[in-house]
Amino acid sequence: MPDDLIAAADEVRRMAYAPYSGFQVGAAIRAEGGRVHVGCNVENVAYPEGTCAEAGAIAAMVAAGDTRIAEVAVIADAPAPVPPCGGCRQKLAEFAGSEVRVTMATADGQRLTMTVAELLPGRFDAGYMNRATPGAP
Ligand code: THU
Repeated sequence: MPDDLIAAADEVRRMAYAPYSGFQVGAAIRAEGGRVHVGCNVENVAYPEGTCAEAGAIAAMVAAGDTRIAEVAVIADAPAPVPPCGGCRQKLAEFAGSEVRVTMATADGQRLTMTVAELLPGRFDAGYMNRATPGAP
C-alpha cells in the first residue's frame, strides 16, 4: 500500500480549485527513479475547460523531467474510491506500463488498487499508426 503516495495526494487535494463541483481531487505520481509529482483538479467557469488532478500531476511530472510512471495514487472525499476518468486513463497510459498500479483512495480510508491495463483494456497505442504517412492530409 503506497501510504506516502496517498498522503502526498491527500495534501495536494486540499489545494484543488473546485468551486463548481465542490469535489476536490488530489493525485500523486511516483516516477521511475523515485520522485513524486502531484496535481489537483482546477475547474473553470467554462466547465469543459477544467482539468483533472491526474492531468495536473502528469503535467508536473513532465515539466520536472520525468516521463515514466512507477505508481499512482488518487484521492477524494467520496463514498467510494474514485476512478480516473476515461481521458485520464489514456493520459496515464501514455507514460505507464500495463502493470503499473493505480491506488484509488477515499478520505475515510477506503482503498482500491487496479493496474493501468485493468483501467484501460484495449488501449490505443502508437503501434496502430505503423502505416501512417507523416505529412499526409
Ligand atoms: N476529477 C478529477 O480530478 N479526477 C478524477 O479522477 C475524477 C474527476 C475532477 C474533475 C472535476 O473537477 C471534478 O472532479 C468533478 O468531476
